[in-house]
Amino acid sequence: MDVLVVGGAGYIGSFVSRMLLAEGYRPTVLDNLSLGHRAALDPAIPLVTGDLADAGLLGRLFSERHFDAVMHFAALASVAESVQMPLTYYRNNVANTLNLLEAMRHAGVGRFIFSSSAAIFGSPERIPIDEHHPARPINPYGRSKLMVEEILQDAAAAGDLQFVALRYFNAAGASRDGRMGEDHRCETHLIPLVLKAALKGAQNGPTLKVFGTDYPTPDGTCVRDYIHVSDLARAHLLALDHLAAGGASAAFNLGNGKGFSVMEVIATAEKVTGRRVAFETAARRDGDPPVLVAAADRISRELGWQPAFPTLEVIIETAWKWHASHPGGYSAVAA
Ligand code: UFG
Repeated sequence: MDVLVVGGAGYIGSFVSRMLLAEGYRPTVLDNLSLGHRAALDPAIPLVTGDLADAGLLGRLFSERHFDAVMHFAALASVAESVQMPLTYYRNNVANTLNLLEAMRHAGVGRFIFSSSAAIFGSPERIPIDEHHPARPINPYGRSKLMVEEILQDAAAAGDLQFVALRYFNAAGASRDGRMGEDHRCETHLIPLVLKAALKGAQNGPTLKVFGTDYPTPDGTCVRDYIHVSDLARAHLLALDHLAAGGASAAFNLGNGKGFSVMEVIATAEKVTGRRVAFETAARRDGDPPVLVAAADRISRELGWQPAFPTLEVIIETAWKWHASHPGGYSAVAA
């Protein structure tokens, strides 16, 4: 099966494109390399360097090559940044996705797998969050993802495509061999920042900030559901097979169903690394809901998804292997 992986040089996209290749699918990556890394890609995977804003490029790509399905990972994904730059987020995450969907429709490509987010739910009314939970996002990032889900429902109803939207909770971790992992140019995610703090030691470098200690949670810090990137990747392949088998369009929540506070993440990282993680407390970060934990029963039941890395300790162990061996991320890896 020929699969276009948009944003396939990024953190999650690079895991998915390698898994596709390893399992006999034929991925092609489209990435503007603004946030992705050429070195994250298997050299056997064709890379088209380009941007979804370029409708001409999309038209040429879909007319020159055949695709059975498209997976779409190319998005800006920082909650705090989206609060500062909402128009940039709507342009990139919504308008550019429309370009992609229009190019697909024109070419007659009708299977689409979309990276959605727990951020569509906003501050949850109940935990864990299942697919019936109301979607009321509290930041522009979450709204941009919900807008695309709504566009997809309309396009599916009109017969343009079949889609699966996967609402990721907190993606984390690295490959078991420590050769692929998370490398954001401007890192904002908790686990990489905690591990960088562990690497630097207490004396050097900027101190980790714990954003908010007055949330309505047991220790006052935010609770999140961390899911290993390879388990996320597996869900994409299951979603692809589901659509290829004629399965109906659907949206699935994707997490491990267990929540950990920021302080619990720090304590687990100290245990895994055997190092101290120095931190200071700070004000709440804009746009952060207090608790996000998934009920992933639906994807388990309907697609047979099961996590291979279900504990926070194992997730952090893999991330530590990557960060300890690649303190400069992919920059030190030959592309
Ligand atoms: N946090 C800190 N200090 C930091 C970084 C994060 O205390 O230096 C806290 C955050 O406030 C939050 C938790 O750690 O409570 C996790 O933060 P991340 O930035 O790692 O992840 P988010 O939960 O903000 O974001 C993730 C994805 C988003 C997605 C969101 C759903 O990265 O794409 O989950 O709300 F939208």
